[in-house]
Amino acid sequence: MIPMVDLKTQYHSLKEQIDRAVLDAMESCQFILGPNVTALEQEAAAYLGASHAVTCASGTDALQLAILAAGIAPGDEVITSPFTFIATAEAICYAGATPVFVDIDPKTFNIDPGLIEAAITPRTKAVIPVHLFGQPADMAAIGAICEKHKLLLIEDCAQSFGAAFNGKMTGTIGQLGCFSFFPSKNLGCYGDGGMVTCATAELAEQVKVLRNHGSRVRYHHHVIGYNSRLDDIQAAILRVKLKHIDEFNTGRRRVAQLYSELLKDVATVPFEDGKGVHVYHQYTLLSDRRDQVMARLSEHQIASAVYYPIPLHRQEVFAEACAQLTLPVAESVASRCLSLPVYPEMPEETVRLVAATAKDALAS
Ligand SMILES: Cc1ncc(COP(=O)(O)O)c(C=O)c1O
Repeated sequence: MIPMVDLKTQYHSLKEQIDRAVLDAMESCQFILGPNVTALEQEAAAYLGASHAVTCASGTDALQLAILAAGIAPGDEVITSPFTFIATAEAICYAGATPVFVDIDPKTFNIDPGLIEAAITPRTKAVIPVHLFGQPADMAAIGAICEKHKLLLIEDCAQSFGAAFNGKMTGTIGQLGCFSFFPSKNLGCYGDGGMVTCATAELAEQVKVLRNHGSRVRYHHHVIGYNSRLDDIQAAILRVKLKHIDEFNTGRRRVAQLYSELLKDVATVPFEDGKGVHVYHQYTLLSDRRDQVMARLSEHQIASAVYYPIPLHRQEVFAEACAQLTLPVAESVASRCLSLPVYPEMPEETVRLVAATAKDALAS
């Protein structure tokens, strides 16, 4: 079987360093907010060029903590993409705010900046673009709108560790950036994990307090917070992998470039305009024959996946609130998108085999 991701090959390529790091963390017995957590926060901030980085228990928590730290509250509206994983919208709802879905750009699959202003109301507090599949959203246009309307800009970087827009890493362009370290992400740990990057010391302090029971000093609680800390063992693993993130992302880009070269005549392949560095968390193409391609790949023991088959405004949980909303691009993309296997270590002959099998189904 050719899988969507191959975590084992990556583990084996770094096994000695990862095993050592885990054993050292166990030996230190500082399991909660230990030295690896502090070191990872410094190293990740330095890598990204972020002013501050605060780790937490998952990407979903990163979004929730960022939204709360930004002061978003019941009654507020937050503009985001309908074509994303549910967590982006869930986090808005956890704060008692309302997600307002704006249609996407058909080329990048990210929120269409040209449609944002029409969705702004007096209740709008923030925009959360998602750098979907590792492709940066148009941060120049979105940033200009946020500045003009005095809106917070919170980036969902769950799929975009190491991606950049106009020379700046995603997560350092808005006031807050939210990362996931879910195992299959570009930088993944061996369980759940997340991180919030913050433009100011005040926001970072706020996220730190919220992730640790609303507490600055032990047993002194200022606000209702959460238990959302990254394990020291996970931080130790991430510190090893962070040193290799450029190699990983270069590997993903190599796979993607070869796929695009081989498939550009038979499907709509991912868009790159040179403004952003796409890090291909997923390699996602568009085709009217998506289901046939999936079936053919499956017959040949090749995995493929649809991310995401139902846009958020059509999900049962939001269907009633969004009954009057039509977002034709998101709906069309959801019905035609297909993600192919991509991971940094994917051998060239495997990429060629997947592409040839897909091409065969697309052409027949
Ligand atoms: C775009 C996006 N946002 C948020 C999340 C949530 O991250 P986690 O699974 O670490 O909670 C994910 C994870 O799949 C994601 O893809």
